[in-house]
Amino acid sequence: MKIAKTLSVLGLALAGISFVGCRAGGENPGLEYAPQMYHSIAYEPLSQITDEENQGDVISNREDGRGEFFNSNINNPHRMNMREPVANTVPRNKEGYLPYRLKAFELEPAALIKNPVVSNEAVLAEGEKLYLQYCSTCHGKGGEGDGLAGAVIGGVANLKGGAYIGLPEGHIFHVITKGKGRMGAHGSQITPESRWKIVHYVKQVIQAAAAPVVATDSTAVVVQAETPAK
Ligand code: HEC
Repeated sequence: MKIAKTLSVLGLALAGISFVGCRAGGENPGLEYAPQMYHSIAYEPLSQITDEENQGDVISNREDGRGEFFNSNINNPHRMNMREPVANTVPRNKEGYLPYRLKAFELEPAALIKNPVVSNEAVLAEGEKLYLQYCSTCHGKGGEGDGLAGAVIGGVANLKGGAYIGLPEGHIFHVITKGKGRMGAHGSQITPESRWKIVHYVKQVIQAAAAPVVATDSTAVVVQAETPAK
């Protein structure tokens, strides 16, 4: 009886110790069952293992007979797994847009940029929502520069006024992005796509509602509002 009791206590203690031994924590990685199920062999982008035979300390179960960690790409120069991008490659941002590199004063090249967002009713509706949210406080709901905050700031542009009606889309996008004069930059608050939607709304709804303006001085240019989207 006594022996049985001692044995079971011992057994329990042993089981306890062995369980504790498996537990991971601190510096101890613990004991893993079938670790290859959890840790896939990553491609090493920078340090290729070129010895196809080298099994290292692990038992390899690769079916092609190569070492477990052999993963260099024999088709690439220097057996690289990760190739360098083509020269002059420009990364796009999360929304798929190229980086906007123009400085605040570079209004002329900015004016040449075309709106990449295709306009339709949904885009204009979204543009209206964004305009009311970000612009109407100063420029007013109708764009006449009569927003409540605008009254405090003063000198807000009347987007329906003669000087502004013919502004190219790229110019408006640039002003939203970088600011101009007394207007602050909105590039960090509004995504590029949303800015272009606002531009559509300003050109096709706000400014199309105003009559086309014909300049009369010697440097006369006929400035016409864009036709509204069907
Ligand atoms: C805090 C007030 C304020 C807000 C918000 C604001 N603006 Fe302005 N905006 C101004 C002022 C002030 C000017 C006149 C700038 C100047 O010439 O000094 C201006 C000028 C402009 C111009 C004319 C630029 C030019 O070439 O002279 C455009 C276009 C414009 N704003 C569009 C927008 C749009 C679109 C939004 C919304 C994304 C917006 N603004 C938000 C205050 C504001």
